[in-house]
Amino acid sequence: MEVCVGSNLGSRSSHGGDNDRPDERRRRQLVRLMDAETRTDPVQGSAVYPLGSRVNERGHLEIGACDVTELAAEFGTPAYVYAEDDLRARAREYLDAFRAHGDDFEVIYASKAAPVSAIYRLFADEGLAIDVASGGELQMAIRAGCDPARIYVHGNNKTAAELELAIQSGVGHVIVDSFDEIQRLDALLSEPLDVLIRVTPGIRADTHSYIQTGQLDSKFGFGLDDGLAARAIDAVRATPNLRLVGLHAHIGSQIFELEPYVKTIEALGALAAEAGLGAEEFRLLNVGGGLGIAYTAGDEPPSIRSYVDVKVEGVRRVFDPVPRILVEPGRSLVGNAGVTLYEVGTVKEIPGVRTYVAVDGGMSDNLRPMLYGARYEALIANRAAGIPDTRVTIAGMHCESSDVLVRDAELASPRVGDLLVTPATGAYGHSMANNYNGMTRPPVIFCKDGDARVVVRRETWEDLVSRDV
Ligand code: LLP
Repeated sequence: MEVCVGSNLGSRSSHGGDNDRPDERRRRQLVRLMDAETRTDPVQGSAVYPLGSRVNERGHLEIGACDVTELAAEFGTPAYVYAEDDLRARAREYLDAFRAHGDDFEVIYASKAAPVSAIYRLFADEGLAIDVASGGELQMAIRAGCDPARIYVHGNNKTAAELELAIQSGVGHVIVDSFDEIQRLDALLSEPLDVLIRVTPGIRADTHSYIQTGQLDSKFGFGLDDGLAARAIDAVRATPNLRLVGLHAHIGSQIFELEPYVKTIEALGALAAEAGLGAEEFRLLNVGGGLGIAYTAGDEPPSIRSYVDVKVEGVRRVFDPVPRILVEPGRSLVGNAGVTLYEVGTVKEIPGVRTYVAVDGGMSDNLRPMLYGARYEALIANRAAGIPDTRVTIAGMHCESSDVLVRDAELASPRVGDLLVTPATGAYGHSMANNYNGMTRPPVIFCKDGDARVVVRRETWEDLVSRDV
């Protein structure tokens, strides 16, 4: 598995055997002593937890001013819990960062990160446009009330049915991704539709290989070095119904460096010049999403502000006239806004080896540790200010050994019945949830000012057989 510096993906995973080494014991004793003196609230001000999270007077974690022990009692576990204010604050941070440069921009929510009707509505309400990656996401966005004219349709293999749905819905833009699609879409249209061409600029961002998308060897888009992007421009120009309005490039996800974006913009500049793209054909430049987030306290991603600054300054430096700048963030809008709330069901100590703390979820609600080796923090939420004195491995309840959420987590004396929270699960948790082992997918709870509401209900055992015929 490819491991990259500057990203939390595929990062360290030490082993339980450390527990017994004297130097390790001394280090942990010291940490405990220091913590006991200074520790008040491990959550307040953390970049990993939703904004406004804190430990209350009862020693319980609060998200959106809701005590998570009360959430667990009311809604059960596991549950995805979001702070509504956090979602709004991140959207505003993007918008304000752009407004500081002028008004010719569009912030597009990449809804694959959390395709939830309430989140579509919330971001549309804040003024964001929407990126959908399938007919299903398009359906959800439209049903949630998003303006079709501000929907951008993606996909490396959009089916005829998806393209038809896009056309009938009156979506504003389709990002064409292959020669086959150019022909297919053109044939379905009876009047012109605005399209952008997805370019793979040949830039390999520093992140897990599974979520790199900018390199030449990619299933996405048209390459630069192989000349396919230039040919795609000609192919779109030759169609009667596709109206070229710009270029798109998304080089990958969970990226901590800003330099690759500058290189991407320069590469697109060279393409635009070479292809002689006029102002009409190049009204829009979509420079994708990809900004990384903090999954653990050690992660220090760039701010939304500096990410936007670098993109805007890069585009202004390279292009004249300057096209409208579009960005397409997913993870950085929703990732830190959400946590997953579990209950501890078993604690298994293997003397001298490792202690397993098993929770009532796992790889059905968070596939990221298993797919990308992603690292998460964890906290006993009902003793949230407790000293993390016990090193454990947090496992799920699935029938395989890969079902480990956090290896070597330090928890405050975990016990059966405790509530355990993993923060930063707001992106690609709910959206990649599955029913492995007949697990029912968790609800999505929105919290704000002490009020909690279910925006997606928990799946039921009945749901599991509801498609049977
Ligand atoms: N635009 C396009 C065309 C994309 O493919 C993606 C993500 C985004 C925007 C949003 O990227 P973000 O800002 O969220 O990094 N399941 C993986 C992430 C896959 C991302 C796929 N595309 C994970 O859990 O890390």
